[in-house]
Amino acid sequence: MEFKSISCAFESLDLNMLKDAVKTKYNDATPLCYLHSYGCQQNVSDGEKLKGLIAKSGFSFTSDDALADLIVINTCAVRENAHERVFGRLGELKHLKEKNKDLIICVCGCMAQQKHVAEKIKESYPHVSLVFGTFAYSDFYKMLYEVIVSGRRVFNIEEKQSEIAEDVFQVRSSDFKAYVSIMYGCNNFCTYCIVPYVRGRERSRTVDAVVDEVKGLVRDGYKEITLLGQNVNSYAYGFPELLRRLNDIEGDFWIRFMSSHPKDATNELIDAIIDCDKVCSHLHLPVQSGNDEILQRMNRRYTVDKYLETVEYARKRCGDFSFSTDIIVGFPGESYEQFCDTKALLEKVKFDNVYSFVYSKREGTKAAELEDKVSVKQKGLWLRELLLMQHEITEKWLGRFVGKTLKVLAESAKKQDGLLTGHSYENIIVEFEGDKKLIGSFVNVKITNALNWALFGEIIR
Ligand code: SAH
Ligand code: SF4
Ligand code: F3S
Repeated sequence: MEFKSISCAFESLDLNMLKDAVKTKYNDATPLCYLHSYGCQQNVSDGEKLKGLIAKSGFSFTSDDALADLIVINTCAVRENAHERVFGRLGELKHLKEKNKDLIICVCGCMAQQKHVAEKIKESYPHVSLVFGTFAYSDFYKMLYEVIVSGRRVFNIEEKQSEIAEDVFQVRSSDFKAYVSIMYGCNNFCTYCIVPYVRGRERSRTVDAVVDEVKGLVRDGYKEITLLGQNVNSYAYGFPELLRRLNDIEGDFWIRFMSSHPKDATNELIDAIIDCDKVCSHLHLPVQSGNDEILQRMNRRYTVDKYLETVEYARKRCGDFSFSTDIIVGFPGESYEQFCDTKALLEKVKFDNVYSFVYSKREGTKAAELEDKVSVKQKGLWLRELLLMQHEITEKWLGRFVGKTLKVLAESAKKQDGLLTGHSYENIIVEFEGDKKLIGSFVNVKITNALNWALFGEIIR
């Protein structure tokens, strides 16, 4: 089956033509769009950009899919369960389409970029009208126009590396926390990972473009800026320098970023984080495994010792420095002894947060061809073992903050007990009593207790 760029006769579609087509289709009423993004922050950020395009086309938004005229499912392909969830969701949406023949259902993002997924949707999910991958955002108006005017199904998963669009209007989901993509794609080809296949090669935005966007956000009152990239350390114009430039912007805000690859996590990066007061004192540094042979077979290009040197350097400069990480349990061929090396690494580093996953085979990656003898059930037991161990480490290690006062961004109120919750400068969850009016602002919280993954405390003025 061929999936070319859309066969659209409207190469230079005027946005007004699309807006008129939307008005005609919905009899001058404002149609509603429901959009859901799965996966990482990068994907959520893409969803916010897509919402910008959808808003400009004449739609408003709803959080109730039953009320929607346009449903957009922005997908993730990183593990098998992400796939299954999306297909389950598409099955459910069939009923909405039966009730409303005019409903437009769209599937986009990383999963849609995969040919076998697009084929499956084409054959087995006829109620889906629009499928496009991660390279097709610049065609969005054309694609939507084609679906609305011709009623035909449109598939667009062509891999084309286009210029990064600047000054795009985004519908952000928070008015105090903002994502800013600084680069797209990945060149690393870790053997288990699908991301380089669905997101293409690395492309970086210029320093000026990023600085301008952040200045605008700070002016608009945003308090937390999270810089995004699959590997921010390979930002083409120097990531530590970018952090220093952003730190010079005046205003009451702080900066986070995701993700860093250990192979290029330099002392310069650690220095920039520690020197810049607006850059939060936390590094998410996915290690994946604590065994050199497994790391090599994952094509990670660092050793456990190199990783530990980075951690030691940071902790020497700042004893409380917070690290978090990602772990893959049960990479093909991993033995129990090798898995135990990962546990030993966790004991050494003392992470504040660990995101661990059972290895999931991704079609088309190198690791998918490796022999894999350990059962999924067994891997699940290893994962449990790791989580239980990490739980204790985190709880004990968080104790270092008891008695200290941390700067926290108040983010929401918990339903169960009305406590406010937010993240500290060190990226630790902190819960405390306070007025809901504080949500969206910084507070100082004196820590009184550490329990499970969170800290508890009292606001001090
Ligand atoms: N670019 C980021 C990671 C993006 S994917 C980085 O390199 O840090 C987020 C996490 O998903 C990875 O760190 C890894 O732990 C996990 N992951 C990726 N592919 C996976 C797979 N096939 N099976 C299980 N976990 C996987
Ligand atoms: Fe995947 Fe590795 Fe790229 Fe991260 S660095 S996105 S794990 S290939
Ligand atoms: Fe998933 Fe794509 Fe992100 S595969 S993790 S949504 S880059």
